[in-house]
Amino acid sequence: MATTRWTPDSWRTKPIEQAPVYRDQAALADAERRLAGYPPLVFAGEARKLKRALGSAAAGEAFLLQGGDCAESFGEHSADNIRDFFRVFLQMAVVMTFAAGSPIVKVGRVAGQFAKPRSSNLETVDGVSLPAYRGDIVNDIAFDAEAREPDPRRQLEAYRQSAATLNLLRAFATGGYANLENAHRWMLGFVKDSPQSERYQLVADRISETLGFMRAIGLDAESHPELRATDFYTSHEALLLGYEQALTRLDSTSGDYYATSGHMIWIGDRTRQLGGAHVDYCRGVKNPIGLKCGPSITADDLLRLIEILDPEQEPGRLTLICRFGADKVEAALPTLLRAVKREGRQLLWVTDPMHGNTIKTSTGYKTRPTDRIGAEVRAFFAMTAAEGVHAGGVHLEMTGQNVTECTGGARAISEQDLRNRYNTYCDPRLNAEQSIELAFTIAELLKAQRLAQPERPARAAE
Ligand code: TRP
Ligand code: MN
Repeated sequence: MATTRWTPDSWRTKPIEQAPVYRDQAALADAERRLAGYPPLVFAGEARKLKRALGSAAAGEAFLLQGGDCAESFGEHSADNIRDFFRVFLQMAVVMTFAAGSPIVKVGRVAGQFAKPRSSNLETVDGVSLPAYRGDIVNDIAFDAEAREPDPRRQLEAYRQSAATLNLLRAFATGGYANLENAHRWMLGFVKDSPQSERYQLVADRISETLGFMRAIGLDAESHPELRATDFYTSHEALLLGYEQALTRLDSTSGDYYATSGHMIWIGDRTRQLGGAHVDYCRGVKNPIGLKCGPSITADDLLRLIEILDPEQEPGRLTLICRFGADKVEAALPTLLRAVKREGRQLLWVTDPMHGNTIKTSTGYKTRPTDRIGAEVRAFFAMTAAEGVHAGGVHLEMTGQNVTECTGGARAISEQDLRNRYNTYCDPRLNAEQSIELAFTIAELLKAQRLAQPERPARAAE
């Protein structure tokens, strides 16, 4: 299969999972034709730059922080939302950079994360069955027949929202907001009086002190853009392949095809079938690709997927995002780590401690206990260390808002609290405080990983 010719539409001849059924095929063709004429959201050079950064993470010299909503929504698209998300992300990145003593590669699950795979095609409430909600790019979450009908025009709205979100994020990342001199100002209102804020304040103080010293010796943010700007990338699950195909463009510099809907795309655990449409689409575009690996993946499957998705063994091309669950990771991960190592492959291993730790409360809420999330992260670092593999990143569902969707954390959100601000369109997200708390946990693990490493010559000389 990997050797057959690839075109942006060759996925259409493969078996496909999780595809919505559009009743109005003419409207679908029209939406896809329009999208194909729109400007790309990202350009190939940026995707290549991200690939290099991920390659250095795979080599043990950086760490990936990837996070954002489970599903973005049309209803909650506001500047405040984007800013709150971005500043929590920056706070986490600063805390982790400090501890790791190496770069944090920043990739949002944002500006395109609209399509959702579902376990069932239908949702049944009080004996009424309707098509399942598949994300705002497909249909509406409201439980009525009209809302749940897949509407192709939603793809144009998703494009518009992605462009607007990306535009604001680019402005924040390069226009001054992300300046390290603002590290104190990134504290959010409600996080300010949280148990995490004191800890964060200490890190921000040390950064200010360092910047003061650097300024005294003639290194300031005016002359050093790396102090006042950051590279922030976007990513989403490449699930709705018609949309992805419409935004696939030939890069004139390299002569290669790129997905221009975001910098990085990933294949979900439910759509990673060998020979399936999603794997086929992703093998042909040159972007960095993520592959979600859940408990059902075998070492054999994984090696074959690696062969198809990264035949040229390109650094940073393939990121393996492991989502086993705190109770399963120890049984599942070592086998995979060993199999990949045996093949002489250096890939980027990342933990997604969210998706394997979802439970349903007696009151009917889907939630994730933060102690299980933390336990999976710790187990991931322990397993990778034991196999001599670099723990290369985390993949989180998080928001800058003060939601109550995951239980636990410093404020001990209980199952009874969930109803207060349970706002997610899909899976439960870490709120701002829980996110920063987890960043501190990861920071400690990164520090231990750094100290366990033999000193690299380049650093020893500094
Ligand atoms: N440019 C560096 C980086 O992105 C330093 C930096 C600037 C930074 N602003 C930041 C780091 C905000 C973390 C958060 O790593
Ligand atoms: Mn999710």
